[in-house]
Amino acid sequence: MKTILYMATTVNGYIARPDDSTPWSDEEWNAYAEMVKRVGNIIIGRKTYEIMKDGEFDRIGNPFVIVITQQKENETIPNVVFVKTPEEALKIAEEKEYTETMVNGGSTIIDLFAQKKLFDEIYLDVEPFVFGNGKPLFLPSNLELQLSLEEIKKIGNNSFQVHYKVLK
Ligand SMILES: NC(=O)c1ccc[n+]([C@@H]2O[C@H](COP(=O)([O-])OP(=O)(O)OC[C@H]3O[C@@H](n4cnc5c(N)ncnc54)[C@H](OP(=O)(O)O)[C@@H]3O)[C@@H](O)[C@H]2O)c1
Repeated sequence: MKTILYMATTVNGYIARPDDSTPWSDEEWNAYAEMVKRVGNIIIGRKTYEIMKDGEFDRIGNPFVIVITQQKENETIPNVVFVKTPEEALKIAEEKEYTETMVNGGSTIIDLFAQKKLFDEIYLDVEPFVFGNGKPLFLPSNLELQLSLEEIKKIGNNSFQVHYKVLK
């Protein structure tokens, strides 16, 4: 199982404004949707799920969605499963016979995976914005990951995608 962190970010490492809104380009959404269609499943935090559930899954090809939450979840929703830990999320993706999974935020869930060194690869779509404040890609901590650069490609006129492997 390859675990991929895939996020859109400002040039200074914010993934959303303080009010949770994001200004990402159609080209970025298209690049993200293309990757989701290849991988087939995504892992997201409960807050991101609440933001995406009304229409955004359609936009990315209706992947299998694994949501991380600390609450007991009684709802049954087609194509969505609720779990409590990153390990449980990865186990479900494996049981579904996916060979890759994508962690798509937000900051809290990224930190859970990062602290346990669970990322194998990182894709960042860097959008042409600087935010003075907002939701950070990585929460402040003592974390250090060493990466090797795999590819950089332009997305549309104003953005680029950078792909790293995480050295272990
Ligand atoms: N730029 C991008 O590509 C991108 C992508 C996705 C999201 N975002 C942004 O990210 C922001 C949301 O990020 P966020 O950090 O606020 O929320 P999040 O990571 O999406 O979800 C947080 C939720 O995870 C659950 N959780 C927290 N700690 C946990 C633990 N130790 N174990 C299990 N579950 C735990 C809790 O759910 P319960 O409360 O249900 O227990 C918590 O409310 C939004 O602004 C969104 O727009 C940006």
